[in-house]
Formats: sequence, structure tokens, C-alpha cells
Amino acid sequence: MSGPNTDYDPVEVSSLQQGEIDAARDAAIAAIEAAADLEQLKAVRSAHAGDRSPLALANREIGALPPQARKEAGQRVGQARGAVSKALAERQVVLEAEHEERMLVEETVDVTLPTDRRPEGARHPLTTGAELIADIFVAMGWEVAEGPVIEAEWLNFDALNLGPDHPARTMQDTFWTEPADRHLVLRTHTSPVQARTMLTRRPPIYVVCPGRVFRTDEYDATHSPMFHQVEGLAIDEGISMAHLKGTLDHFATQMFGEGITTRFRPSYFPFTEPSAEVDLVCFVCRGSQVDEDGDTCRTCRGEGWIEWGGCGIVNPRVLRACGVDSERYSGFAFGMGIDRTLMFRHGLEDLRTLFEGDVRFTTAFGSDL
Ligand code: DAH
Repeated sequence: MSGPNTDYDPVEVSSLQQGEIDAARDAAIAAIEAAADLEQLKAVRSAHAGDRSPLALANREIGALPPQARKEAGQRVGQARGAVSKALAERQVVLEAEHEERMLVEETVDVTLPTDRRPEGARHPLTTGAELIADIFVAMGWEVAEGPVIEAEWLNFDALNLGPDHPARTMQDTFWTEPADRHLVLRTHTSPVQARTMLTRRPPIYVVCPGRVFRTDEYDATHSPMFHQVEGLAIDEGISMAHLKGTLDHFATQMFGEGITTRFRPSYFPFTEPSAEVDLVCFVCRGSQVDEDGDTCRTCRGEGWIEWGGCGIVNPRVLRACGVDSERYSGFAFGMGIDRTLMFRHGLEDLRTLFEGDVRFTTAFGSDL
């Protein structure tokens, strides 16, 4: 910067002329007024009041003026700068207030809104249903056994007295797997778990075996190529049909309520002799065959009974095939559809609702089964 110059005429220093100073001040004030928010005001402050602003630069020129000119120039620039900083300060207050107000509106918290709206999942009725069934038997001292869904043909059929030429093999529409010479099937029932248990344990045996089974059925309201069964097997000394009946009556009552017992109808299964179909007292009409209005009960179609599964005294040929001494031991077995059981229990009309994974269905039953 140049030193004092006594010949200096302030009028000739253009940045210090009144007109220039006023113009710089007016431009600054106009920009300040136009600043719409604090961010913009910050930029305006730096442009019009910062080190490189026209008024700051003009201020620096004052030192170069002759002493007699400095006072007047200093006042002129000082007034202009004062006006700018006042305008800045005022605008700052206004914009801060606006900002605060906006924040209050934008960040409003409605403390009355519920906080627990996270949807809660629920366990599938098939899972909880299978557990409930297992619990009923575990409470009687039984154990739960499981087997693979891809099963040896021998265990699914032969061990259960369903030899290669047995006509009953065609009773179950089987999914065979490739290559055929490995003789593996998708198990058509949970009965092979009986064979597996007898082959690996010594009697007494009391097991329930819930699980998935497969058959080449159409997928409709009452059929599915994949469904669930629960198998029961008791092997001990002196086991009779009476034990079987008592066990199934208890199972039915626990599942469907007091007074819901079973009846047996003669039937045929290769793995049991004698064999029976198990029916359940209709839990809707409780065997009366009519509903509350006196019309035919729709659940059992007026029968008073509902088909539930199959059962019987384990065929001694099965005991022998699985290494159990059939002279010393006898046993009973039964098999029920879990899906069917749950359909009865919850009044479901379409089997497919159990398999379609609609979360509304699952949550409707919650975990309470
Ligand atoms: N496995 C038979 C089926 O899927 C059901 C069954 C019947 C199982 C009688 C048994 C039984 O254990 O004794 O149709």
C-alpha cells in the first residue's frame, strides 16, 4: 500500500467517492434483503462485508489518502459499513426466527402416535400344531422321532409289508427319484419312521413322528402333493387294541376337547393286523348330526363322525422285518393327517390356505394353538 500523499485528491480516488460508496452500500442492502435464508445470507455477508467486498477494499484505500482527507473518507466508508452490518444483523435475526419456526413445524412430533406398530410375525399353524400334537404325547412319556423325506424304497414299502408286487403299493401315488436304481422315493407316509425306530432301538418303544409326506395328488381344496402326517408307534409286551383305543381317545380329547372320542371301523393296511379307520366324534355337532338350527351338520354332513386316520396292531411281519422279537413284543401304530386335523380344529374350508404363506392367515392364528 502506498504511504501518505499530501498531493492526493480524494475526489480522484474513485472507490472512495460518495457515489461509489453509496452504490456499494445500496447493493449490499438490496442483497441482504433478498437473502431468503441463512445460507444465502452467509454468502451475501462474505460478498458485501467480507475482506474482499467493495467497502472493505475502499476502507483500505483510506490509509493512502493525505491526512486531511482521511477523516471525511473514513466517516463515509464507516457509515456505509455500519449500515451494512446493521442490515446484516437485522436480517440475521429475521431469518433465524423464520428458520426456527420452520423447524418447529417440520420436526413436530405427534406424541400421541402409537409406537409399537412394527408388525409382529407369528409361527405357522402347522408348526405350532405339530408341536401341540408332540406335546400331548410327550406328556404321556412318549418321544418324538424324525426321519428323512427322501426315503429308501425298502423302508417306505418293503419293511412295512408292502412287497414289490403288493397291490397296496399302488394305493399310494409315489414320487420316484432318479436314478431309479438308487431306489429312493419321496416318502409317501410317515410310517417308514416306525421301521427306522425299530431298527435302531430296543423295545419298549413309544414314539410320535410328525413330518412332511408327498404323493402325486392334484393341488386343490382337499389335496396337495405335499402334506403332513403324524405317526405313532408303541411296542411293548402285552400291547393290545385296548391300549390303542385309549391312546387315541386321549389324543382326540386333548386336541378337540372333552367328550370328543373315537370309534374304529374295520379296514386294511399291510403294516397292521387287525387294521382300523379312526373316526372322531364330530366336534361341531358333538355327534348329534344336526347344527344349532336343527339342520344337518355341515362339518360331518350329518354323520356325527369325521374320518381322522388309520391304525392297527403292528403286523408281526413288520416287527420281524425290523428286528423285533414278535413272540415277545406286540405293538400298535396309527397315522393321521396333521393338515386335516388342523382344518377340523380351525374350521378351514380350503387346505391350500395352509400352504400359501399369506401372513394374514398365519397372524390370524398367532402362536396360540
Ligand atoms: N400310513 C398310512 C397312510 O398314509 C396311515 C396309517 C395307517 C399309519 C395305519 C399307520 C397305521 O401307522 O397303523 O395312509
